[in-house]
Amino acid sequence: MTTLDVNGKQLETDASPDTPLLWVLRDSLNLTGTKFGCGIAQCGACTVHVDGMATRSCVLPLSAVEGKKITTIENVNADAAGKAVQDAWIAENVAQCGYCQSGQIMSATALLAKNKAPTDADIDAAMSGNICRCATYVRIRAAIKRAAAALA
Ligand code: FES
Ligand code: FES
Repeated sequence: MTTLDVNGKQLETDASPDTPLLWVLRDSLNLTGTKFGCGIAQCGACTVHVDGMATRSCVLPLSAVEGKKITTIENVNADAAGKAVQDAWIAENVAQCGYCQSGQIMSATALLAKNKAPTDADIDAAMSGNICRCATYVRIRAAIKRAAAALA
């Protein structure tokens, strides 16, 4: 049995240590807001925070996250940056199909948690690993700037 710190709660799973965190979140812990896209760290749909860092959960074994603080989309608005990002996403109507958006929000929140006034280049660098098949990139950038202004 492995105990994980997820969204401020201690949760137990009997998954084997080499199981990717994404599978544990979705199938064992019923936290289905984090999405499966490619499964090979190429799309960003599965992004969560591990000790505050935006991390691809589809390639991260359970054994690598024991004792670390994991945050998923279900609790990202518990901190100021996450709340500002979610509010900005709604205000800018960012989502189209929505599939990529939890990953986008997790990456944007990790960016704003450490950089309250990101430049376009900072945004491009932080968000380059999150693919959107609906091409909502212009609204994503506008929402990150809106969230940064709200946090200023
Ligand atoms: S599902 Fe993890 S990066 Fe695509
Ligand atoms: S909103 Fe459809 S993939 Fe991004």
